[in-house]
Amino acid sequence: MDCEGRWELIAWTDNYITGNPGIDSDHRRLLALFNEFSTAVNAGQGDGAVRRILDDLIEYTQYHFSREERLMQESHYPDYERHKKMHDTFTRQIADAGYHLAVGSDLSAFLLSLLAKWLGGHILSADRKFGIFLVGEGTPGSSVPGP
Ligand SMILES: [Fe+2]
Repeated sequence: MDCEGRWELIAWTDNYITGNPGIDSDHRRLLALFNEFSTAVNAGQGDGAVRRILDDLIEYTQYHFSREERLMQESHYPDYERHKKMHDTFTRQIADAGYHLAVGSDLSAFLLSLLAKWLGGHILSADRKFGIFLVGEGTPGSSVPGP
């Protein structure tokens, strides 16, 4: 949150690049949805509008996780189980919280911090680690992340 009490947006930077184009384009979309969600909360939009964006975000997250997990299985990623557990924990947290969402309550604050911390942190650590693995395995389309 900034000094005026507005939720900050997450800008895409090259630090988020995993080197796998499919994963990277999913992550860009996830950050865009997160920014839509923050913007709606900042603008004081009604429960219905915020809820719709949150539903899109949850649905897209699930789609993305299954895509990433499939790629992990196909490439025999050794850290698959641990990575999948992170996805499952996040999916449970966001679904539980989303169910009770009320705009302006502490819950939307909870959700926004959870999302901001999780999206940025998970991509920068766990997903980049997987990206480096894919590049090392010579997975088609994957390339070394830029400097
Ligand atoms: Fe992931």
